[in-house]
Amino acid sequence: MRSLDSSPVWPLLMAVVAASIVITISPAQAVRNAESVLRRETLDSTTWKAEQEADKVVALPGQPPVDFDMYAGYVTVDKEAGRAHYYYFVEAAEEPEKKPLVFWFNGGPGCSSIAWGFGEELGPFFINPGGKDLRLNPNAGNRVANVLFVESPAGVGFSYSNTSNDLVEVGDNRTAHDNYAFVVNWFERFPQYKGRPFYLSGESYAGFYVPQLGKLIYENNKKLPVNETINFKGFMVGNPIIERYFEYWGQLDYFYHHAMISDELYKQIKIVCNFTRENQTLSIPCQYLLYLNTSQEYGIIDHYSIFTPTCSNLTAYGGHQKQFSQVCLTRSSYSSIS
Ligand SMILES: *[C@@H]1O[C@H](CO)[C@@H](O)[C@H](O)[C@H]1NC(C)=O
Ligand SMILES: *[C@@H]1O[C@H](CO)[C@@H](O)[C@H](O)[C@H]1NC(C)=O
Ligand SMILES: *[C@@H]1O[C@H](CO)[C@@H](O)[C@H](O)[C@H]1NC(C)=O
Ligand SMILES: *[C@@H]1O[C@H](CO)[C@@H](O)[C@H](O)[C@H]1NC(C)=O
Ligand SMILES: *[C@@H]1O[C@H](CO)[C@@H](O)[C@H](O)[C@H]1NC(C)=O
Ligand SMILES: *[C@@H]1O[C@H](CO)[C@@H](O)[C@H](O)[C@H]1NC(C)=O
Ligand SMILES: *[C@@H]1O[C@H](CO)[C@@H](O)[C@H](O)[C@H]1NC(C)=O
Repeated sequence: MRSLDSSPVWPLLMAVVAASIVITISPAQAVRNAESVLRRETLDSTTWKAEQEADKVVALPGQPPVDFDMYAGYVTVDKEAGRAHYYYFVEAAEEPEKKPLVFWFNGGPGCSSIAWGFGEELGPFFINPGGKDLRLNPNAGNRVANVLFVESPAGVGFSYSNTSNDLVEVGDNRTAHDNYAFVVNWFERFPQYKGRPFYLSGESYAGFYVPQLGKLIYENNKKLPVNETINFKGFMVGNPIIERYFEYWGQLDYFYHHAMISDELYKQIKIVCNFTRENQTLSIPCQYLLYLNTSQEYGIIDHYSIFTPTCSNLTAYGGHQKQFSQVCLTRSSYSSIS
C-alpha cells in the first residue's frame, strides 16, 4: 500500500497498477505475483510495525514523566515530487483505545502545528521559563482524545518537498489533496486506528484546510467499500478564516467596541478601506491603518485574547527576556506565570 502514497484516489490508481501488471506478465507469473502480493501484505504488517516503532518518541528533552505514547515522523504525500508531511502524535493519557482520533492543523498559511498548536496550545507540555525543560499542560488535548499535529503544506515547519518549485506553486487545492494523502497513508502506518471515530480540527487558516480536507474525505468515502472508509465524524475550527469580508468588519468592530482604538482611526479605516465582498484585496494604505495603526493604539496586548494578563516581571525569564516577553504577552498559555 505504501507505493500508492501519492494518490488521493488510490482505488483508481490501484486499478491502473493492476491493469499494467496484467498486460506485461504471463499467467504463471501472475500466480507468482498473486503470491507475492500476499507476501507483501505480510511484509507490510512487519513494515508498519517497524515504521511505527521507528517513529516512537522516547522523551523530549526536559520532559516530565508521562505514561502515554508519542510518535513523530514523516509521511510521504507525493512520491514523485518527494513531498512529505511531518506529524507529532500524542496518544490519549487514559484508555487511548477508547478515545477518538483528532488531527490538528495550525493556520498561517505557514504556521507550524508543532511550534504553535503542540508547543503552546493543546499539546501535552508547555515550555518552562528559561526554555530548558517542560511542564505538563493541564488542558492538553490528549486528556480527551488521541491528538495528531500535522504540519502542512510542504515547506511549513518540518514538512518538506524535494521539488523546490513546490514551495512556490502551492495552493489550497494541492494542500487539501496532500493532506488527504497524509491521512490515508498515516492510517497505513497506524492500522490499529482504522475505523476509529475521526475528527479534524484547527484554527485560523485551518478554516480553509479543515473543511476542504473534510470534503475530500467525505467525497472519497462515497467511492470506497464501507469497510475501507475513514470513519469521519466531524470537524471543528477555532478563530477560523472563512470569509475575509466579514473578518475585516468583525475585527474592526471588535477593536472599536472594546475601546481598543480611537473614534478617529475607526472612521478613517471605514473610509480608506471601503470593504466590499466583491473585492477583498486591501489597498496598501488600508493595510497600514488596519494592522499598524490599530496595533499602535491598542498597545502590547494579545488582540486575540484581550483579557489575558500581561507579564509584569520580565526579569524572571533570564536570558530569554526579549523573546519571552513577546511570547508571554501574546500567548494565553503563559498567563499562569504572568
Ligand atoms: C527526498 O530526497 C531524499 C534524498 O534523496 C530522500 O532520502 C527522501 O526519501 C526524499 N523524500 C521523499 C518524500 O521522497
Ligand atoms: C486539485 O488537485 C488535484 C491533485 O493534485 C488535481 O487532480 C485537480 O485537478 C486539482 N483541481 C483543481 C481545480 O485545480
Ligand atoms: C473489505 O471487504 C472486501 C469484500 O468483503 C474485502 O475484499 C476487503 O479485503 C476488505 N478490506 C479490508 C481493508 O478489510
Ligand atoms: C497612522 O499612523 C501614522 C504613523 O504613526 C500616523 O502618522 C497617522 O496619523 C495615523 N493615522 C490615523 C488615522 O490614526
Ligand atoms: C467602494 O468600493 C465600491 C465597489 O468596488 C465602489 O463602487 C465605490 O466607489 C468605493 N467607494 C469608495 C469611497 O472608494
Ligand atoms: C481590488 O482592490 C485592490 C486594492 O484597492 C486593487 O489594487 C485591485 O485592483 C482591485 N481589484 C479589482 C479586480 O478591482
Ligand atoms: C521578579 O523576578 C525576579 C527573578 O525571579 C525576582 O527576584 C524578583 O523578586 C521579582 N520581582 C517582583 C516585583 O516580583
